[in-house]
Amino acid sequence: MTAPEALGAAASHAFAATFGHSPAVLASAPGRVNLIGEHTDYNDGFVLPFAIERRAWCALASRGNSILRATTTLDDAVAEIGVDDLDPANLAGWSAYVFGVVWALREHGVDVASRGGLDIAVTSDVPLGAGLSSSAALECAVAVAIDEAWDLGLGRDVLARVCQRAENGAVGAPTGIMDQTASLLGQAGHGVLLDCRDNHSEIVPLRFAENGLDVMVIDTRVTHEHVTGGYAERRASCDRGAAALGVSSLRDLGVADLRRAQAALDDETFRRVRHVVTENERVLAAARTLASDGPRAIGPLLLASHASMRDDFEISVPELDRAVEVAVECGALGARMTGGGFGGSAIALVPTERFDLVEAAMLSAFDASGFRAPHIFSVVPSDGARRETL
Ligand code: GLA
Repeated sequence: MTAPEALGAAASHAFAATFGHSPAVLASAPGRVNLIGEHTDYNDGFVLPFAIERRAWCALASRGNSILRATTTLDDAVAEIGVDDLDPANLAGWSAYVFGVVWALREHGVDVASRGGLDIAVTSDVPLGAGLSSSAALECAVAVAIDEAWDLGLGRDVLARVCQRAENGAVGAPTGIMDQTASLLGQAGHGVLLDCRDNHSEIVPLRFAENGLDVMVIDTRVTHEHVTGGYAERRASCDRGAAALGVSSLRDLGVADLRRAQAALDDETFRRVRHVVTENERVLAAARTLASDGPRAIGPLLLASHASMRDDFEISVPELDRAVEVAVECGALGARMTGGGFGGSAIALVPTERFDLVEAAMLSAFDASGFRAPHIFSVVPSDGARRETL
C-alpha cells in the first residue's frame, strides 16, 4: 500500500503535468469490505460494510470551456468529452467512472452546462477487481471533489445515489447502493449498518483491534465482472422470486415465509430467495452480537453467510471456498467471501498473533491446489470520503 499523502501528491502531480495548471480541490474516498450482508442491498435489505484505508484520490479544477478532461496515473491516458456529449453511449473504459459522475449529477438536476469544463486527475490504491469497490471509491472521490469545487452542498445520501446512478447508467453495472454508502459514510473503527429500504444508516463500533483481531483480506485474483455475467442474473432471479411471491422486494419476506416460498418456486429460485432472506437475518444478528458480545462472537455468522453464498446463491468460486476453509483450519474465528462474488476477495477474522501463520498456510494451500498466489493483507475500518488539503 502506498502512503496516503503520496497518493494525494501523485494525483496533484499528474494533474499539473497533464493540464499545466494547479488543481483547486483534492478529495479522497475509500474502498470497502463488506463484513456481512451480500446481495441484499438491491433487495431492499440490510448490509454491514466498513470503509478501508485504501483510497481513490481526485484532483480537480474548473476550466473555461465546456470540455471535461481526465487523466489517471494508472495508465497515464487522457480522456476528453464535451459537456454536451455526456451520455452513457459515449462513455467507456476507466473514464466512464469519472465522466459518469458528471453525467449522473446532471441527471440529478445539477446545471452542469452552466458550470463550464473540468480538468480531473485520479489515482487509487484500491486493488482493481478484488471485490473491494475500487469503482465506488473512484466515483465517490470524483463526486466529493465536484461537490466541493462547485459548492453544491449535496448531502452524503444524495452523493451515494448519484454515484450509484453513474455505476448503473454510465458504467452499466446493475449494482446496489452499498459500496457508495460505505465509501461516503464510513468512520474509523466503525461499520455502517444500512437499511437499503429507507437508506437509514447506523454507525456500529467494530472494536477489532481492542479484541486482538485483524481483518485479513485474501484477494484470490480471480477477476469478476459485474457489467455482464452472474451478478445481473442473480438480481433477475431475486426479482422473479419476489414477483412470484407477490411482494415488492425480498425484504418483505422472513424465515417463516420460506416454507411457502419453497412450495411456490422452482428449486433454484427458492435457494436464491432463501439466501437473501437468511442473509438479512444474519446482518441483524451480527449487529446485535457485535453490541452484546463483541467481534469475536460473529464468526459463526460469517461462516453461515459464506455457506449460503456457496450453496444457495452459488456465487463463490473454488479459490474463495478454499480461502475460507484454510483460514478457519488455522484459527480464524470466521471467514467469508466479500462483495459481489464470482472471484475477488475473502475476508477472515484472525487473532493478531495467528496472522502470519494463516498467511503462510494460505499461500501454501493455494499453491498445492494449483491456484494463483493470492494477495494477502489486513485492513482496518477507516474514515469515509473527504476533502483533502492540497
Ligand atoms: C457489489 C455491488 C453491491 C452489492 C454487492 C453484493 O459489490 O456493487 O451493490 O450488491 O456486490 O452484496
